[in-house]
Amino acid sequence: MKKLIPGFLLLTLFASCVGGVPDKKEVKNKNANTDREYRILKEAYKEYFYIGAAVKLGEYDSTPFYQTYSEDVLKNFNSFTAENGMKPENIYREDGSFDFTYGDRLVDYALKHNAVVRGHTLVWHNQSKTLFSKDMDKEAAKTLLKNYIQNVAGHFKGKIYAWDVVNEAVGDGSQWRTSSPWYKYYSGPEYIRDAFIFAKETDPDALLFYNDYNMVNSSKRARVVKMIKDLDLISAGLDGVGIQAHWNLYWPSKSDIEQAIKTFADMGLKIHITELDIDCYSGNSLTKEIDYTARLEQQLAERYAEIFSVFRKYSQYIDSVSFWGISDKDSWLNYFSGGRTFDKERKNYPLLFDREGAAKEAFFAVSAF
Ligand code: G3I
Repeated sequence: MKKLIPGFLLLTLFASCVGGVPDKKEVKNKNANTDREYRILKEAYKEYFYIGAAVKLGEYDSTPFYQTYSEDVLKNFNSFTAENGMKPENIYREDGSFDFTYGDRLVDYALKHNAVVRGHTLVWHNQSKTLFSKDMDKEAAKTLLKNYIQNVAGHFKGKIYAWDVVNEAVGDGSQWRTSSPWYKYYSGPEYIRDAFIFAKETDPDALLFYNDYNMVNSSKRARVVKMIKDLDLISAGLDGVGIQAHWNLYWPSKSDIEQAIKTFADMGLKIHITELDIDCYSGNSLTKEIDYTARLEQQLAERYAEIFSVFRKYSQYIDSVSFWGISDKDSWLNYFSGGRTFDKERKNYPLLFDREGAAKEAFFAVSAF
């Protein structure tokens, strides 16, 4: 077996292949007008990496994912990430109390379905307003950070395979995201190192990641490498990087992706591909809503096939690949593209399942290799 898989997963794999034939599932694809048989994703990739998805847990008047999707769809995944439910605004109350409702729903589901959970995220500049209801000095910020991580990583200890300990702390055009409240109250980037130290102390068995977007861009990637070296994050407990894959039909190139993987692999860091989705407007926020035509379906399938060929080529360094959502209906990209948020939905088609939960050609392209 390629990687050390927790005991419960090994048993499941044995059970599902006891007849010697990997579990074959027919997935009706209305676009193909035929029942097509093929391997479910977690089976197809069991020698490569975990296949994951970000999911809704009811945190914003949404229905928990396991009440939205059929078992046929959900059984494709053996890793789950709370899209919003485990972020500070959905855990920490301004009175200093904690609410683990949504994270508990996810870890309970994952345990029952032999899947792992990626914890997203302990430290972020966004969706954290309940932590910062008043100003504070550096000592108070450090106490707040330690208390938050000890409570959250402590509550989920033993149930989280990997944490996005710090998310998006590096600047887009400068070394640091100085707009982060953590940066402001710490008067600098030391909160990043402290976060890894506190997380490692609290749950030494969880893998600890730094997660960020645009790391396929050489200048952003160089700033992340500088951060890791200057703050000596590996000695603080950093195990790997989460390469957010909010990509599109044309960008990044295969070589951009390969360069990012090689850079961090050469540092001895584990790699998780996180937040994978393909913006079908390719970042153009001005384009009117487009239809999901047969041509676009084919283009998306070819793009996903190309991207997964790179992931398989570097699977010795990649332990997990997670989509940012399960179906197109879920996607944040229905309200965001090209750096702009829309008031009204502009339908996007970034994922492997369509709005009715049917497998798209992209799904077949990822599974059949
Ligand atoms: O739908 C509810 C609405 O009913 C409610 O009244 C309102 C109250 O604020 O919230 C609405 O929910 C919104 C939610 O998306 C819908 O899913 C939240 O406002 C909005 O903040 C939330 O946005 C999330 C975004 O992070 C916030 O920055 C997206 O779901 C989530 O996909 C996105 O994920 C981030 C990753 O965590 C980090 N990497 C970038 C990625 C995309 O921004």
